[in-house]
Amino acid sequence: MTHILEADISVELTKNSKLKDIDFNNLPFGKVFSDHMLLCQYKDGAWNAPKVVPYQPITLDPSAKIFHYGQSIFEGMKAYKDKDSNVFLFRPLENWKRFNISSKRLAIPEIPEAYFMEGLKALLKADKDWIPTAPGSALYIRPFVFASGNGFHASPSDEYLFIIATAPSGAYFSGKVTVAIEEKYSRSANGGVGYAKAGGNYAGQFYPTQLAIEKGYNQVVWTDDTSHEYIEEAGAMNIFVRINDTLITAPTSDRILDGITRKSLIEIAKAEGIEVDVRKLKVSELVEAAKNGSLKEMFGSGTAAVISPISGFGYQGTDYELPELETSYAKILKTRITDIQYNRTEDPFGWRV
Ligand code: COI
Repeated sequence: MTHILEADISVELTKNSKLKDIDFNNLPFGKVFSDHMLLCQYKDGAWNAPKVVPYQPITLDPSAKIFHYGQSIFEGMKAYKDKDSNVFLFRPLENWKRFNISSKRLAIPEIPEAYFMEGLKALLKADKDWIPTAPGSALYIRPFVFASGNGFHASPSDEYLFIIATAPSGAYFSGKVTVAIEEKYSRSANGGVGYAKAGGNYAGQFYPTQLAIEKGYNQVVWTDDTSHEYIEEAGAMNIFVRINDTLITAPTSDRILDGITRKSLIEIAKAEGIEVDVRKLKVSELVEAAKNGSLKEMFGSGTAAVISPISGFGYQGTDYELPELETSYAKILKTRITDIQYNRTEDPFGWRV
């Protein structure tokens, strides 16, 4: 069965809501969890009907393949509330499509659109009161799927769990970040899983990021795996660089995530009359631009962080600072995208759902 209606999704509401214990004006990112989650099991070659259940721990056998082979992928989305308490999602079908692109790469069975979308709607109805309204906050939505089947054989699992959990969240980063341009480690390689939101892509970043933090930076800028000459991503985000008045971002590839915020910002920037150049950018060009003053801005983009301005970068033992701009592209683009997301303006692109 690939079709399902929201009415077919069973809903078991919690008897112990945690809602009253939450300080919605001081939300961390992704640390407090809403009352319910969507749960859906793949067994005997098919996805069972998803259900909304109280948020709860899950029990797995120690031989579950997720623990041994890391067969898991996830998505990041947000639900936004406007001033009249209407709830919106931003391009959710793009998340569903990418969920399945990632799943396919990890040999995980794809999830039908209706299971993802109707399941999400049913979950958001149950947890509508968990969507925060304080400035800069939103309900972070984490759909994920992992190998729950048992066995040490290194082959795809025969059972999976698809879960959507949500967390009312504030900002991902507070303030500007400094980055170290990576000269040794790689996030991904051609033919690998860099374009997928595979859990392991993120685990592989932790150690190089720890090293960068020890040196006083917040994040790593990933460079290509063969030459380390080209800028690719920033931490868990896509990266934009402004040289003079042109905004540059790397083209998506096997190695680079097709970020929904990234591609939305490209469209918004173009509509704003900003010149956008989707092309490979050499580290040497970045360093040269920093030296001659044509480097104006750098920022990361992603669902969690939205736009995260970078205040400086380190490369080969030298630190480069970026100027403080009155009207930065980062500010303009962040205002435009969040105005659409929170239903504060028209949505000429038709992205709000
Ligand atoms: C997101 O921006 O939603 C991401 O998936 C990054 C995540 C690691 C926080």
